[in-house]
Amino acid sequence: MTPATATKKDAIYFHELHSPVDTMVAEVHAGLSLQQKVLSPKYFYDKKGSELFDTITRLPEYYPTRTEIGLLRQHVQEMAGLLGMHSFLLEFGSGSSTKIRLLLEAVRPRIYVPMDISREHLIDSAQRLASDYPWLTVHAACVDYSIPWDIPDFGPGRYNAFFPGSSIGNFDPDSALQLLKQVWRLVGRGGGLLIGVDLKKDAAILENAYNDAQGVTADFNLNVLSHINQRLGADFDTGNFRHKALYNTGEGRIEMHLECTSDHRVRINGNAYRFETGETIHTENSYKYSVDEFHGLAAQADFVPVKVWTDPDGLFSIHYLTAT
Ligand code: AVI
Repeated sequence: MTPATATKKDAIYFHELHSPVDTMVAEVHAGLSLQQKVLSPKYFYDKKGSELFDTITRLPEYYPTRTEIGLLRQHVQEMAGLLGMHSFLLEFGSGSSTKIRLLLEAVRPRIYVPMDISREHLIDSAQRLASDYPWLTVHAACVDYSIPWDIPDFGPGRYNAFFPGSSIGNFDPDSALQLLKQVWRLVGRGGGLLIGVDLKKDAAILENAYNDAQGVTADFNLNVLSHINQRLGADFDTGNFRHKALYNTGEGRIEMHLECTSDHRVRINGNAYRFETGETIHTENSYKYSVDEFHGLAAQADFVPVKVWTDPDGLFSIHYLTAT
């Protein structure tokens, strides 16, 4: 991708690096044709899904966001000292671009590059950020993590990646490694990575965080079906499914499923899929790592740990690593 591909949208540049519909049809078909049906969690994030996720981040049961924000607030100066001023700052899974606000004044990046799959939400958030920080140059890029991508050549300088929220946990370890290698490719040797990683902990705390009392996580999970209805003209009835989230201790991950509550068929793009009562669609994994486990994974992508911050209850970690 070169800067020439950018579209100017008000105060930001926008880069479209993801063509959604074609891959969505094939991926949904492949996932629903498996014995254990699966849908990629990336399909949670249409506009409604991104809004529901924002609501999740404020739920009392969902500790990761407030814990990570607490760590960012407490250690921002030390983090900024490691990242350095005036770098090119790339954010992975920028969502509402909330957490970056805690770092911006301290690091004053030359260019900020929010990257996310949820196009409208990305553009709205990037425009809001650009109007709140008039000195900031914003190049927003719509990307799909499963397909390698390039960023514009902004010229020489230091590149840093900010990857908050433990979204790395939504990838199985092999894909997480590929993604960390992609981060390495974008920041280059000597670049930095500031990444939030949810820690392993008591299963009850984890299961509570993904089974909130208000049912927002259930709505978020079910929204994947509405998104597929809307984008692919499918006829899922969300009333035929219920949310299920449990901690798989052996795999070290929360698993989210949609459990089918009646025998029925669903039509998508000319194909019919049979669903039986009790079977599930596996919609998300959220892997949890110990500090050492994450360092081991990052080492395979040639990232060297420099500093890790954790909260007193050992709920969440933020790592700073450099690309060697
Ligand atoms: C975006 N991601 C890190 C969230 C998580 O905790 O795995 C997504 C989520 N799913 C249910 N609640 C939140």
